[in-house]
Parts: sequence; C-alpha cells; structure tokens
Amino acid sequence: MKILIEKDYETMSLRAAEITAAEIKKRRRLVLGLATGSTPLGMYRKWIELVKSGQLSFAEVTTFNLDEYLGLPADHPQSYHSFMQEQLFRHIDVKPDHTHIPNGVTPDAVKQCKEYERLIHQAGGIDIQILGIGQNGHIGFNEPGEDFGALTHVVRLQESTRKANARFFSRLEDVPTHAITMGLKSIMNARQVLLLAAGSDKSDAVYKAMYGEVTEQLPASVLQLHPNCIFILDEAAVSNL
Ligand code: GLP
Repeated sequence: MKILIEKDYETMSLRAAEITAAEIKKRRRLVLGLATGSTPLGMYRKWIELVKSGQLSFAEVTTFNLDEYLGLPADHPQSYHSFMQEQLFRHIDVKPDHTHIPNGVTPDAVKQCKEYERLIHQAGGIDIQILGIGQNGHIGFNEPGEDFGALTHVVRLQESTRKANARFFSRLEDVPTHAITMGLKSIMNARQVLLLAAGSDKSDAVYKAMYGEVTEQLPASVLQLHPNCIFILDEAAVSNL
C-alpha cells in the first residue's frame, strides 16, 4: 500500500485527479469504479475543469459505481444515480450507456447483483477503483462484519452509517435501511484502488485500515492485501499518526 499525504482537501483532490487523469489520457478506454459521498467531489470538480478546458475526455471511459440505496428510484433526488448525474456525468463527455449504477428498485435484487458482476467482467474488469471510507471503516456500503469474499450483494446499513448519511435527507427515517453494493471481493478485483480520505473524523478508520489488523470488523483493512492500492489523504485524516 502506498500512502500520499497532502496538505488539505483541495490538494488531496488535485493529486487524485492528476493520477486518474494521467491514466485516462494514457489508456483512454479505461474502466473506472466510482464512489459517492462528499470526499470524491473535489476530484470530480477537477475532472470537470479538465474536460471543459479540452485537456481530458471520458468519451471512451466506462464507469461502474460502487453502490445504490435499495428502494430509491434513479430519479429520486437522494439516489446515487441523481448524485452522479448532478455531480459528474452531466458535466463531462462520458457516454450515458457507458455508466453503470446498481438499480435501487429492481424486482430481483439477487439477479441484478449477478448481472452487475457480469457487466464488470464483460467490460474487462475495473482498472481503477475510487473509494471513500466511512467512519466505521466501511467501503462502498460494506459494513463491519462483511465477508471479504463477497461480490455485489444486498446489505443492511448500520445505524451509524444511516445517521452519517442523514445529512442528505430531510429526516433520518427517510434514509433507506438497505443498499446494493459491490462486495469487498469486487473491490479487490480492481487492478488499482485509490482510497481518498479527508478530515479528522476519518483519522481513526484510516489509521486502522493502514496499520491495524486485517479484519472483517474493519472492511477497509482488506486493502492492505491489495497489490496496487494508494491511500490519498489530507493531513487531518492522519492527525492521529
Ligand atoms: C457512503 C458511501 C461510501 C462513502 C461513505 C463516506 O456511505 N456509500 O462509498 O465512502 O459514504 O462518505 P463521505 O465521503 O461523505 O464521508
């Protein structure tokens, strides 16, 4: 695992954007795994600036998002479909049929999870997986206790995760209780993983992910076993080192 520490959120986002943009420019037909949450937004903004100034193109890029809330249709304002549309897709030249996000209102979630893995495989696998991290060490929506061997599947969200994400909803009761997420094995299958974290509220999870025991109780700790993983952090996220 490689660790890059930047001064603040802005420089962390810039570094992450530079690393990913260099790969997109080099290989063009890249398969990107994308994340939601507030952490990657700075990097997405830099990508948008690069696209608008003609320095970067997503025209041949394929994307797979990590997760989606179960029960929220794509056009729900708090769905991860809406989030990605608003924060990234509608501002860049990615082809809409090259973007993939699990369907939150599927009649057969188990079948859809299998289909999602099949699509990733058919695209040639994920080249670069972007991750944020939850305060409890979750990645995607893989909560503590999740099986390291899991592919895309349905999960029940922990109350702490629902509370942390309640800021995007009007009331805690509106936050879905379940989600579809790529599993820890799906994430480990990516050729490269970039985990972004900023702020002191992530420092405990980040420290345990980097130096703690590799345990299903701290899902991000599995990344210690990944052959090509970079943690891109701001100084606050390593304030307890
Ligand atoms: C959600 C997402 C995760 C994300 C996490 C942290 O639970 N499913 O993919 O990493 O939030 O979000 P934030 O970056 O807003 O702290």
